[in-house]
Amino acid sequence: MNRVIFYLNLNFLVIYSGAQVLSTNLLDKKVDSVLHLMTIQEKIGQTNMYNGFMEFTGPTIENEDNKSKIENIKSGLVGGMLNTLSVKEIRAAQKLAVENSRLGIPMLFGYDVIHGYKTMLPVPLAQAASWDRQVAEVSARISAVETASSGLHWTFAPMIDVCRDGRFGRIMEGAGEDPYLTSVMTEAWIKGYQGSDLSDEYTIAACAKHFAAYGFVEAGREYNTADISRNTLYNVALPPFKAAVDAGAATFMNAFNLVDGVPATGHSHLQRDILKGVWGFEGFVVSDWWSIVEMVSHGFAIDRQDAGRLAMLAGSDMDMEGRVYEEHLAELIKSGEIDETLLNDAVRRILRVKFQLGLFDDPYKYCDESREAEQIFKPEHREISREVARKTAVLLKNENDLLPIKEQVKSIAVIGQMASSKDVPLGNWRAQAITDSGVSLLEGIKNAAKDIEVSYSEGYRLSKGERNFVFELTLAPDDTTGFQEALTFARESDMVVMAMGEDCFQTGEGRSQTDTRLKGNQVELLKRIAEINDQLVVVLMTGRPVAIPEVAAIAPSILQVWYGGTEAGNATADILFGNYNPSGRLPVSFPYYTGQEPLHYDRTNTGRPGANPWNPSVVFWSHYTDSPNQALYPFGYGLSYTEFEYSNLSNRVKEGMVEVKINVKNIGQIEGLETVQVYVRDPVATVAQPIKKLVDFKQVRLKPGEQVTVEFILDEKDFGFYHPDFTFYAENGAFEIMVGKHSEDFISEQVMVTFN
Ligand code: NOJ
Repeated sequence: MNRVIFYLNLNFLVIYSGAQVLSTNLLDKKVDSVLHLMTIQEKIGQTNMYNGFMEFTGPTIENEDNKSKIENIKSGLVGGMLNTLSVKEIRAAQKLAVENSRLGIPMLFGYDVIHGYKTMLPVPLAQAASWDRQVAEVSARISAVETASSGLHWTFAPMIDVCRDGRFGRIMEGAGEDPYLTSVMTEAWIKGYQGSDLSDEYTIAACAKHFAAYGFVEAGREYNTADISRNTLYNVALPPFKAAVDAGAATFMNAFNLVDGVPATGHSHLQRDILKGVWGFEGFVVSDWWSIVEMVSHGFAIDRQDAGRLAMLAGSDMDMEGRVYEEHLAELIKSGEIDETLLNDAVRRILRVKFQLGLFDDPYKYCDESREAEQIFKPEHREISREVARKTAVLLKNENDLLPIKEQVKSIAVIGQMASSKDVPLGNWRAQAITDSGVSLLEGIKNAAKDIEVSYSEGYRLSKGERNFVFELTLAPDDTTGFQEALTFARESDMVVMAMGEDCFQTGEGRSQTDTRLKGNQVELLKRIAEINDQLVVVLMTGRPVAIPEVAAIAPSILQVWYGGTEAGNATADILFGNYNPSGRLPVSFPYYTGQEPLHYDRTNTGRPGANPWNPSVVFWSHYTDSPNQALYPFGYGLSYTEFEYSNLSNRVKEGMVEVKINVKNIGQIEGLETVQVYVRDPVATVAQPIKKLVDFKQVRLKPGEQVTVEFILDEKDFGFYHPDFTFYAENGAFEIMVGKHSEDFISEQVMVTFN
């Protein structure tokens, strides 16, 4: 096989494979040739996925459950496993299946590689803040190379749940609040994971999750019900999943939540009618962990057997660790409650992915110790991670051009527990990242600061004790004993860089919060520091939009860096010292107050959108009495060290299409990257439309004084929407087109468009 490793202009690693992709026809024939040999039990086995927290290479397997799992693997009754890690373990487990079972069908090995395997890339929400397809694609590619080199061939990513509620801890895993931006990222992520050939041993199968509406859990509470309208489901939650199918996602995962009263796992309309029907998805759907069994608790299934029946009827093909299909499918088929053709369809889908991955040609093709040793956590991956991370930071405020740090600054006080943390930047959902393997902000600053004295004081303490993926994070009690030292250093230094935000284990699965203000007494310390040193930069680390009105009022400069991965500290220092001009834009609205959540820019107008013009103190309009309606920092927002000016918006309408042009000029002193954003509004429609929705964007890099004309072609897909019967079309008439810097700053024009 030809394999060429080369660098794109952005120095991003791209791996090209010359292997041939199986034609659909041949693939189907191969799949059927296996299916015909299988007994019902063996077919059911393919739908059965085990968790693998057990050692296959260890001397003994004490646990009874593990023993029976191993027997089942040997008997060909297991289709796949999750959480079996390393080439050694995977080879041993695969061997059990391939060398002992009657047909020797290889198992699939999957794992949650959400933003890197050992080399951490920025968390997905941060990647989305780059608004850069290449950032998403290359991040997924690095993840794929390391994952595949560890013997695995399937990741449970990307998570593409549109989410507009900062309370939901899993907002960090997706691309934010907008369906279009999420769709763009989805396509890039899938391309990055899967490449153009799944059988390449450096690519892995992607899994678009969680289908569907998991981002809409009520009040942002984990595992809660999603009470979502059909309009929002079709137009906001589903489009990224459609993009995933179009991008060739090999697998889908369903969700824990109810959708309109029906668990997503038992949702026939979603899985059979839309996903496998209208969209023609040919891969398979894996349940979320135990989500089949949980249909009993939801009050939808009578018992485990009934849950199995409902899940299979609805199109859930594989059962993740629930053991429901394993225990009950045979009986359900025997009694006629499940037709065997449904099982055949599920198995066909699973086998197809196994063939595509090349596992039937060589079940151990991903198992190569030398590749494992060579590829995982290699320096090139870290370099790329740094390049990627600096594109994800969003400059929220920069009064008097405080940043980048000027030459006259000779001493910097770095403050805050998170500033010295080598672990927080790695983020949650960190696969095999080694604890404390990241570059801290403090290290990054020290590496970059030449002839500058750097002092460090913890100042405040946010968390205490053990921090990990599974257990509740313990916040440290408020304690001001560290304040004095921090204040002294702040007083004695030319500049202060203060790390604020959230521990990375405040976001991720099971990490919902009712209050998205910064915890502990960090804001109090900020206030005290601001009184003595106004050369103050806040570096904000979060995995969610946080409510920071006080920080925004006090700090002259704020740089939102999310959790930037292994090289986070160096990447942030690149920006602080002006080696990279910040270019990130918010993929989520930052509210003033948590009570504004769910907050999103593409809201509908309401019947009472504005105050009474004759008497603004009359209360009868859609507003809060204690908060603005708008975001503190809106969707699409982000500053640069330079300034961009927009002018001359023009359009030409032609046969259902609109050609839009706008001039963008760099009117500042240094080169910079601008993200030109296009929003549209259909002001009158049969279903009331949002006041604006993002339909396109382009990034332009401009030298000082340089001007370009940026062009967009908009057509029916940009002006249309899904109607209640799930048909998509645009309604003829007037539209508003808005082009600009972000969702609240644009130039607009009206156009009349007629579609066929
Ligand atoms: C539950 C999570 O919801 C899902 O995203 C993940 O892939 C599975 N657990 C497996 O770890």
